[in-house]
Amino acid sequence: MPTKIEKDSATGRMTTGHEWDGIKELNTPLPKWWLYTFYVCILFAVVYSVLYPSWPSLSGHTGGVLGWTQREELAARLAEEKSRLQPVVAKIEATPIDEIRNSPDLMNYVQAAGRVAFADNCAACHGAGGAGTVGFPTLADDDWIWGGKPDQILQTVMFGIRNTNPESRVSDMPRFGVDQILDAQQIDDVAEHVLSLSGAATDPAAAERGTQLYADNCSVCHGEKGEGIPDMGAPRLNDGIWLYGGDKATVVETITYARRGSMPAWSERLDPATVKILAAYVHALGGGQ
Ligand code: HEC
Ligand code: HEC
Repeated sequence: MPTKIEKDSATGRMTTGHEWDGIKELNTPLPKWWLYTFYVCILFAVVYSVLYPSWPSLSGHTGGVLGWTQREELAARLAEEKSRLQPVVAKIEATPIDEIRNSPDLMNYVQAAGRVAFADNCAACHGAGGAGTVGFPTLADDDWIWGGKPDQILQTVMFGIRNTNPESRVSDMPRFGVDQILDAQQIDDVAEHVLSLSGAATDPAAAERGTQLYADNCSVCHGEKGEGIPDMGAPRLNDGIWLYGGDKATVVETITYARRGSMPAWSERLDPATVKILAAYVHALGGGQ
């Protein structure tokens, strides 16, 4: 119930003129500093919403008169970063792959950019840091299927392995079992011979019987002593390092069905500088030749 505005004798404050059951309301205004800060905030919000994107609309949001977007800001920063790195990227493009490792500056860049590009594109198959797994070779050791010289690695990465690129590396091990080139007994014998190359044969007599079979059917690709022939993409068999597994059953399976692992041609997906950086990075990972 409204009453007259008067001075409250207990506090010395004015009342608002509101009274309920004899209780009067004191007039306690907001502190000035608070009030003005509040007005400034409102003003700021109005100015901001005129200048910058702010209000949702049916088709998206209001753009603001400045036309500012985060996307453009990102693009500008990326362009700035790119032009900052342009000299070193151009130098990598111009430097033959064999010579990149002679330049500490270029190698610094290769290590940093290569680590990121490897994690993005290669680690899914080859494992973090090129650790490798069954069917996907370790890139951090000095055991190379297709050769570990910088230019060999570059070619492998550029054109890939057993894919549709005309330059792709191809070499198909025959399916000795499926295509009945060898019978089960012969496959068993030659598997024992393969195991004997790294001192892991379980049946020396069978390994002995497999010697001639190996010479006739396998040595063209894998080498007389199982040393591997990079031009054929045929892995070393005498070192106890296995792409698909070195237990008897797995070796028999490999010989019966062949494996024919495949890798994309990275020159179709990445720019030439990145491919080169990746090749140099892989070469430096472990045992580049
Ligand atoms: C889809 C899976 C896959 C991806 C992704 C992949 N690779 Fe491979 N890579 C393979 C397979 C499978 C082989 C082995 C093929 C064979 O049996 O010869 C291989 C082989 C290689 C070899 C040859 C190794 C040797 O011992 O000679 C190199 C080098 C290589 N990859 C580098 C790379 C790089 C660099 C990337 C990233 C740009 C990459 N790979 C991404 C599947 C992949
Ligand atoms: C035309 C060439 C060629 C011939 C001939 C060939 N291989 Fe292979 N072999 C390969 C290639 C290439 C690979 C790589 C694996 C793949 O196919 O991805 C391989 C892989 C293997 C592997 C797997 C090695 C590992 O690290 O896991 C074994 C074992 C093997 N061959 C045994 C044999 C035996 C035994 C013969 C003879 C009966 C033979 N190969 C004949 C090309 C050949």
